[in-house]
Amino acid sequence: MAQPHTASAHQRVLMTLAPCLLVLLVGACRSTVPQTPTPDAAQAPHAHGAPAGSTSTAIEAKPTRTNRDPHGNPDVERYIDMLQSTGRLETLQIPLVVEHLALAPDAIIGDLGCGPGNFALAFAKAAPRGVVYASDVEPAQLDSLRAKIAGDAAPNIIPVLASFDDPHFPPGRMDLVFIGDTYHHLQDRVAYMRRLEACLAPGGKLAILDYKPGDLPIGPPRAHKLEAGVMERELVEAGWTRVAKHDTHPWHDFEVWTPGEQR
Ligand SMILES: C[S@@+](CC[C@H](N)C(=O)[O-])C[C@H]1O[C@@H](n2cnc3c(N)ncnc32)[C@H](O)[C@@H]1O
Repeated sequence: MAQPHTASAHQRVLMTLAPCLLVLLVGACRSTVPQTPTPDAAQAPHAHGAPAGSTSTAIEAKPTRTNRDPHGNPDVERYIDMLQSTGRLETLQIPLVVEHLALAPDAIIGDLGCGPGNFALAFAKAAPRGVVYASDVEPAQLDSLRAKIAGDAAPNIIPVLASFDDPHFPPGRMDLVFIGDTYHHLQDRVAYMRRLEACLAPGGKLAILDYKPGDLPIGPPRAHKLEAGVMERELVEAGWTRVAKHDTHPWHDFEVWTPGEQR
C-alpha cells in the first residue's frame, strides 16, 4: 500500500525559506537598474531625440538642452565647446581682426551672433572706455559669456538676447557692427541687413568675417554655407557698399561695409 507523501525535514526547511529567497532575488535584480541617471547615460548620443516609446528611464529623466540656432549642433553645450576650441580660435586670428578694425578706445560695438564671446571679449579690451553689445539668439551662449564677465572682468560688455530678425542693439549708436561666422546663419538676410543700418551711428561700419565659400579643410560643410558671391549680392541689394577686403585669413573672408552707395 502506498505511503501518504510526507515532506522530509529538508523539504520543510526549503518551503519555509522560499519566500525569503524570492524577496532577495527580486532585490538583487532591481539593484542592477540605476535609480538615477549617470552622467554618461544622460549625455549618451542616443539621449538626444530618443525614439518615441523608448523605455529607458535614465534618458527620459534628464532632458538634453537644445540649441535655438538651427544651424548649430543641437547639443548646445558641445557646440559652445567647439566654438571655443583652441584650433578654431587660432584660425579666427582674433588679434589680427581687432588690429584691422582699429577701434577707438571709446567705440560702441555691436557683436551680432556673439556666441560665447570670443570676439566680444577682445573688442571690450580694445575699447576699454566703449561698450560692446554682445547679442545672440541662444541664451546658453550668453550664459557662457556671462560666466566670463562675472564680477568685474569686462564691465563694458552688455549681453543682449536677440530675436531671429533683430539683434536689439540701441538705434543710431554703433560705431561698428561685427558679424563673426554668423552671416550665413541669418534668415531673410536682405531685409535683415536693410534694417541693420538703423543701429549705426553716423560714420558707423559693418565688418563681416565668414568662412570662404566652397570646400575647405576646416569649418562648416559646403552645403551649410552660402555659395560664392551670394553675400556680396545680398549686401549690395540691402544698400551696403564694401570699403575694405582684408587679405588676412586663409579660410575666411574679412570685409568692411558702409551704408549707402560708394561715391
Ligand atoms: C558659428 S557661431 C559664431 C559665434 C561667434 N561669433 C564666434 O565666431 O565665435 C554663430 C552664432 O550666431 C548665433 N545666431 C544664429 N542666428 C542668429 C540671429 N538671427 N541673431 C543673433 N544670433 C544668431 C548662434 O546662436 C551662434 O552663437
